[in-house]
Amino acid sequence: MKNTLSVITLFLAMIAMLTLSVLPAAEAAGFREKGVHHDQGVACKDCHQVEKPKDAPSHKACLECHGPYEKMAKRTGKLEINPHDSHLGPIECLQCHGVHEPIEHEQIPCLECHAEFKFRIK
Ligand code: HEC
Ligand code: HEC
Ligand code: HEC
Ligand code: HEC
Repeated sequence: MKNTLSVITLFLAMIAMLTLSVLPAAEAAGFREKGVHHDQGVACKDCHQVEKPKDAPSHKACLECHGPYEKMAKRTGKLEINPHDSHLGPIECLQCHGVHEPIEHEQIPCLECHAEFKFRIK
């Protein structure tokens, strides 16, 4: 009787471990299920190029859909300070945009020199 119980317990523990390791790969990575990309049906692979991402993607992936950079510049061209068209040139999207974790305003590289600039980051 005792043996059967411990076998069952072991079995349940194994199922729990399997579910934990397989199911929430997305949640474990903190993928924001409510984000714009999720709503638009953008898949992990669209950005990461691989089925099981481990690291941040290159911004080449962002440009596949949003590029070229000049198009982004035009899109935000009416803003007083265009983050997509500055004397820093076409800098990495990920310096200003997070996907899973939004970046903090003070992380925007422009602020290093223009502390007074205010951006509305998405
Ligand atoms: C498979 C296509 C695709 C890829 C790849 C992609 N996006 Fe998007 N993204 C979209 C679509 C579609 C929207 C919603 C429409 C729009 O704003 O263009 C969007 C919206 C956005 C927005 C606006 C968010 C908002 O709240 O309005 C930002 C910022 C953005 N993407 C950044 C990125 C960055 C950074 C990357 C690379 C890591 C990236 N995107 C990769 C398709 C893509
Ligand atoms: C220097 C910081 C910075 C960089 C680099 C940057 N962005 Fe942005 N981006 C912003 C800010 C700030 C906004 C919000 C502008 C606003 O609406 O006030 C924005 C807005 C956007 C939007 C939404 C535009 C809209 O019409 O609302 C998209 C999509 C986007 N960025 C994609 C990208 C992609 C793709 C790259 C790389 C090719 C990139 N950004 C690089 C700062 C940046
Ligand atoms: C719109 C593009 C985009 C999509 C879609 C996307 N990611 Fe990411 N992912 C990123 C970016 C950009 C980073 C860099 C960190 C950040 O911005 O939050 C990243 C980082 C990661 C990382 C590394 C986390 C770390 O510690 O740096 C993992 C793992 C990951 N993503 C998994 C996923 C999984 C799983 C999915 C699908 C459910 C997914 N990503 C969908 C853009 C994307
Ligand atoms: C290493 C420091 C440095 C960084 C980082 C930097 N700038 Fe500048 N920027 C300057 C200097 C220096 C000038 C010229 C002096 C002035 O006008 O303030 C200038 C001038 C400007 C101007 C024209 C003058 C004004 O204040 O209206 C704009 C617009 C501007 N930068 C936008 C940006 C944007 C957007 C970013 C981020 C993508 C950025 N800068 C990042 C140093 C920097």
